[in-house]
Amino acid sequence: MDALATVTYAGTKKNLVESQMVADQPAINGNQVTVVLEFPRNTDPFLKSTVKAAEAAIKYHCGQDVEVIIQTEFKSKPRPEVGKLLPQVKNIIAVSSGKGGVGKSTVSANLAIALARLGYKVGLLDCDIFGPSMPKMFHVEDERPYAVNVDGRDLICPIEAYGIKMLSIGFFVSPDTATLWRGGMATNALKQLIADADWGELDYFILDTPPGTSDIHLTLLQTLAITGAVIVSTPQQVALADARKGIDMYRNEKVNVPILGLIENMAWFTPAELPENKYYIFGKEGCKKLAEEMNVPLLAQIPLVQSICVSGDTGEPAATNSDTATGLAFINLAQAVVTVVNKRNREMPKTEIVGVK
Ligand SMILES: Nc1ncnc2c1ncn2[C@@H]1O[C@H](COP(=O)(O)OP(=O)(O)OP(=O)(O)O)[C@@H](O)[C@H]1O
Ligand SMILES: [Mg+2]
Repeated sequence: MDALATVTYAGTKKNLVESQMVADQPAINGNQVTVVLEFPRNTDPFLKSTVKAAEAAIKYHCGQDVEVIIQTEFKSKPRPEVGKLLPQVKNIIAVSSGKGGVGKSTVSANLAIALARLGYKVGLLDCDIFGPSMPKMFHVEDERPYAVNVDGRDLICPIEAYGIKMLSIGFFVSPDTATLWRGGMATNALKQLIADADWGELDYFILDTPPGTSDIHLTLLQTLAITGAVIVSTPQQVALADARKGIDMYRNEKVNVPILGLIENMAWFTPAELPENKYYIFGKEGCKKLAEEMNVPLLAQIPLVQSICVSGDTGEPAATNSDTATGLAFINLAQAVVTVVNKRNREMPKTEIVGVK
């Protein structure tokens, strides 16, 4: 116990004895010492370093030839294993594209709000660890999620806005800090937002994914049984080529996530002062043709209008107001998504989580 009292636990900045982490007296059997250390949770970031320091301290006090066995226990129940996560979530929808900046986050936010307005329970996870957009889009940049204890586990409580539950890494780290992270740290943070958060009962869990086909996508596929993906693209050729890559990723035989449909964003430009006019600045019906080629439904065509951009920046997404043409377009999109998800669930088996190799 004297040796353990020399080891500081970084979580409390007090020693292990003061932190009440030593369960019972250490057991001494010949030259073997067994110590049980109790940590707050199995994901404790100081676990490994504390165990090492405790071992070194005992050897320093009692002699290098002492065999030290350190067992760990956790006050908080461990995270359920993959496959048993989010048991109360009915449908998980990934919003993807190949290309950046085509409107994934705008569509995710508005789709989530529109589904909530139709009466569904909705969660939204901003999976863009390096460029989170949701705190700004929902005008909740200054909020900090707090922890709740649910059935013996400390969980992050999602922020509630416009009737949906939402989490983003943007609440916890600044993008500048996250950019310095190695891949593993980003994927761990993402897993925590999924598995260590109190999402509760949801009809739809919307995942706003980063551009491209990255580690983050792989982590999502290895953590969650994604019901289906919707692919956002502009009608422009370069965006369509990347959309095709996005579709291929989900359709890969090792992945097998159904494509629920395409969403054509910035389908045409309509100036506020000429609401009847349509200018096809990125080309006409590119997504319609891709949808036919890929044999998937075209779920919506969303025009490029200044109000969508402005409302995203002011934190009041277009779908909050169904009196406007754009608000209505997102409500129609939500209805189309409900229809395709129901059809998918009737006709196809549940998605299998991609195995970790
Ligand atoms: N239909 C639209 N009309 C006007 N502006 C739009 C529309 N869709 C998106 N925007 C604007 O375009 C910009 C990019 O959109 P958004 O952030 O949703 O794209 P993204 O695909 O999520 O980008 P990233 O790949 O960086 O995550 C934003 O400023 C957004 O407000
Ligand atoms: Mg985005």
